[in-house]
Amino acid sequence: MCGIVGYVGDGQAAPVLLQGLEKLEYRGYDSAGVAVYDGTSLQVVKAKGRLKILNDMIDGGKSLPGNIGIGHTRWATHGAPSDVNSHPQVSGSGKFAVVHNGIIENYLSLRESLHRHGKAFVSETDTEVVAQLLDYYYQGNILEAMVKVLQKVEGSYALGVICAERPDEIIAVRKDSPLIVGLGEHENFIASDVPAILSKTRSIYRLNDNEIAVLKRDSVQVYNLDLEPVSKEKVHIDWDISAAEKGGYEHFMAKEIMEQPKAVRDTISPRLKDGRIVLDDITLTKEEIERFSKISIVACGSAYHVGVVAKYIFEKLARIPVEVDVASEFRYREPVVNEQTLVLVISQSGETADTLAALREAKRLGARTLSIVNVVGSSIANDSDDVIYTWAGPEIAVATTKAYSTQLAVVYLLAVYFAEKLGTISQEVYASYIEELKLLPEKIEKILENKEDIQYLASKFFNVKDVFFIGRNLDYAMSLEGSLKLKEISYIHSEAYAAGELKHGTISLIEDGTLVIALATQTKLFEKMMSNVKEVKARGAMVLGLTSEDNRMIEKETDYALYVPSADEMLLPSLAVVPLQLFSYYVSSMKGCDIDKPRNLAKSVTVE
Ligand code: F6R
Repeated sequence: MCGIVGYVGDGQAAPVLLQGLEKLEYRGYDSAGVAVYDGTSLQVVKAKGRLKILNDMIDGGKSLPGNIGIGHTRWATHGAPSDVNSHPQVSGSGKFAVVHNGIIENYLSLRESLHRHGKAFVSETDTEVVAQLLDYYYQGNILEAMVKVLQKVEGSYALGVICAERPDEIIAVRKDSPLIVGLGEHENFIASDVPAILSKTRSIYRLNDNEIAVLKRDSVQVYNLDLEPVSKEKVHIDWDISAAEKGGYEHFMAKEIMEQPKAVRDTISPRLKDGRIVLDDITLTKEEIERFSKISIVACGSAYHVGVVAKYIFEKLARIPVEVDVASEFRYREPVVNEQTLVLVISQSGETADTLAALREAKRLGARTLSIVNVVGSSIANDSDDVIYTWAGPEIAVATTKAYSTQLAVVYLLAVYFAEKLGTISQEVYASYIEELKLLPEKIEKILENKEDIQYLASKFFNVKDVFFIGRNLDYAMSLEGSLKLKEISYIHSEAYAAGELKHGTISLIEDGTLVIALATQTKLFEKMMSNVKEVKARGAMVLGLTSEDNRMIEKETDYALYVPSADEMLLPSLAVVPLQLFSYYVSSMKGCDIDKPRNLAKSVTVE
């Protein structure tokens, strides 16, 4: 959700900024821009549309001289995508250029008051307020001006600023939006995320909220809001550089789908030791687990769908009541949450604004918090009492795949761990789940080996107008994810429905040729699912069934069938999701959609 980069050093800034922005385009792609100091003044080039447009305008950066600059790729919030609303935003005097990720919530009142002081605005953005405030407060000391600006603005921000009067330094600050500082040899960087600078340096500082960094060619100094120096710990990033590249795949999504066996293995294996689940990551004791009267799960989008699966799993195995909330609803519904509640927060990025706010609300209410997060050192990870990391590696495609699968893997580990501690499962059942969990990666591999079957089905259906995903119990939870995956990347209208609920209204939408994807992996509900399949077929639907190899009789009722390997039925969501991801991927590819960067979306949604 908006990506920012900055460079100061011996090299030419603009090409470095463009390379960094390319790696951050997943965060927003409505428009892009750069500002560099060329030796006499700030040069700003920005344009609505994809980064390629900007890249062509400045010949890959070559036509823009200068050794210091900032860049931005935008997901529009305040002000429609347009050249003028693109970042960097420049102050009226032309002295300051600002890039921003986040939202300045009180920008309207600030704008009015700046107006009264004679400042004229050219854009509709909240960010321009920051540039104008810097102008207003600047009296020769940029840090003092910045502190005054931060005292005025409310909301979330990661900001990168350059000033024509201080052309050797970048000022960077964050609050509730991610920002890192990259440390190089005679060059330093800022970025919203690691991939933007990974080819330049592996040594970084993670900025905390309300820390201000001053980057020069040969130094980085971090201050608190009282302008006292803060000493920072260098973090080494040990990612394989190919982790953030497509590695021969046409799309990141394809690569990330194929990486799932490894990602799930990396997430599960280190936590299985001598036939036990060992969660060294968390500090929760058996006694604390016993004291929880409920688990409240909060997350957004696909991570929320993991939460829906988790509800079924935790309630069945650990016999604890579980509530699942979309994070944006949780925080405003006055949830009944207290010291006896475990609030489980699920997030790939660890920066999703609604999820972060829900976590903070839960803490305010006294709950114990545990998060499942992919990005190490992210805000949600930092703010939670405990965190379990999913070792999925960087996920670049906007539509999540491997992060979803690893979140689910952690849910299984945690539910079985809780159940054993609470004595709600026997030691035999505990041991059998551990064996089943170990087998998951190779079963996912097996599905991926037969991906052509799914490609064939996608070729039959990529032109349909409406799709309904139906299922019961865990299959209903999977329907939610199957439907979201399809609609977000192929733009086909799709809905997920609890199969038994369809007849209470929605079945009126089924007509000749409507595609229904019927998930029927749960044996005890199989017959009931087949009745629901008959109901939709009787109204003209084409039905694609998805089940495990144990249920071959599905072919009698459905027009087409897909199978996943047999496994304990509780674990089948980990397998069933894979064909659903592949189906969406192939449909989207056949429709010629922009798979990695679907329209209107961005990864890591850092605004409410
Ligand atoms: C869908 C998708 C989103 C995210 C959601 C939460 O494919 O990726 O629905 O799951 O925006 O993001 P995180 O997990 O980063 O909090």
